[in-house]
Amino acid sequence: MPLQEDNSCVTAPADFNPAADAVVPSKVMTVVGARPNFMKAAPIIAAIRKHNERLARAAATGNGNGHSSRIGLESILVHTGQHYDAAMSDRFFADLNIPKPDVHLGAGSGSHAAQTAEIMKRFEEVLLRERPALLIVVGDVNSTVACAMVAAKITYSSGEPRPLIAHVESGLRSFDRDMPEEVNRILTDHLADLLFVTEESGLRNLRREGIPDARVHFVGNTMIDSLLAFRHKAEQSPILDLLSLRDNVSAHSKNNGVARYALLTLHRPSNVDRRQDLLNILEGLEELAATYPIIFPAHPRTQKKIAEFGLEHYFVSASGTQAQAPTADGRIRLVDPLGYLDFLSLMQHATVVVTDSGGIQEETTSLGVPCVTVRENTERPVTVEVGTNILAGTSPEGIRRAARRQLAAKSDHRIPEAWDGRSAQRILDVICRELATRVPQPLPLA
Ligand code: UD1
Repeated sequence: MPLQEDNSCVTAPADFNPAADAVVPSKVMTVVGARPNFMKAAPIIAAIRKHNERLARAAATGNGNGHSSRIGLESILVHTGQHYDAAMSDRFFADLNIPKPDVHLGAGSGSHAAQTAEIMKRFEEVLLRERPALLIVVGDVNSTVACAMVAAKITYSSGEPRPLIAHVESGLRSFDRDMPEEVNRILTDHLADLLFVTEESGLRNLRREGIPDARVHFVGNTMIDSLLAFRHKAEQSPILDLLSLRDNVSAHSKNNGVARYALLTLHRPSNVDRRQDLLNILEGLEELAATYPIIFPAHPRTQKKIAEFGLEHYFVSASGTQAQAPTADGRIRLVDPLGYLDFLSLMQHATVVVTDSGGIQEETTSLGVPCVTVRENTERPVTVEVGTNILAGTSPEGIRRAARRQLAAKSDHRIPEAWDGRSAQRILDVICRELATRVPQPLPLA
């Protein structure tokens, strides 16, 4: 089997059968590790399954049409174990119908270096064993860059080329290298062979960094695929009742029988790892908390910091099934991290969302819910340009001003281009085309 010209990609499997109608098997490995990966990868895994089902139907009816549609994808799902709590991981697999991972690395927490190195060491063994034709990494977490780096440098004793590396959610830039995610994004993009971009700024950023256009594909946002696929199911979540957020008085009002409330998430190290930074944010939220109940599903890192800094008096616990009347006593209702469907339900009914998450800026844009982002920058500028997001900064006054503005805002927003629920299928089309160019073409009939 001759090597590809660029010596970078895939050989045909040993049992490849070049008969015109043969399905060409190709191993595709997807890596997930941390909470924000799961909703981005789920639609891709589902699209692979549907692709194989279509292929099987076509084979049964003798209706194969074209080379790329004959690539049968053997899907292998790897979980690095960067997030390991039931609430941060297992719950998402159940909510998003993601199959059980084929491989679990169990890497766990640690400093950035320790965590990244542990994932790399464990992932290398998997790659040496499985030899996928293509590796899919998503987002910007430590698992993303760790696995991309291993794949970029793997060498097989057989001389087989390394896997193609596909990065989903390429090109986003905050231009703030103090954010660990920014470092992860830049490195992963420069290691990837196929770069799947969610918004136009990503195309500009990649071009500016000299990445060839031929590698870059504008496909939209797979996280929005998940949101659109699951938003109706999320309506069945019991979370509004559990948190006493049903409002019988306004049952027939515009708000559909749901009380007005704000939803808060905070976990970024720059916001929660130093006492004064966290205090500034809490001070900025006091005015909002006096107007509406604030529901705060807090990340484990943030919960630890609140206890460590002795800031518990800002919060009232509303965990588990313990219902809390949403009275405006100025204290924030703290709950444990929620599953995907519960959080989506809370997000779609919120009066305003306050967050430092990247993904939530996009999800609120898709839902048309006002969002206040407690950060100085965003790597997702489309959410501010056409969506419902505003950047508040992290000062108390900035947060107060942004919250007032959003509470007075009229819903006037657009859905960013290609955030239409079909992004995973676009990705799969590109992947199949690419894999098809890297296996031998069937010989033309004499
Ligand atoms: C990671 C991602 C961040 C993403 C966030 C979403 C990186 C660099 N950061 O940050 O981009 O927005 O996930 O959640 O990859 N912990 C638990 N249980 C868990 C996981 C973590 O208790 O299941 C605690 C541990 O104390 C750990 C800390 O949270 O040390 C931080 O976890 P880590 O994965 O290192 O980073 P995140 O802050 O979660």
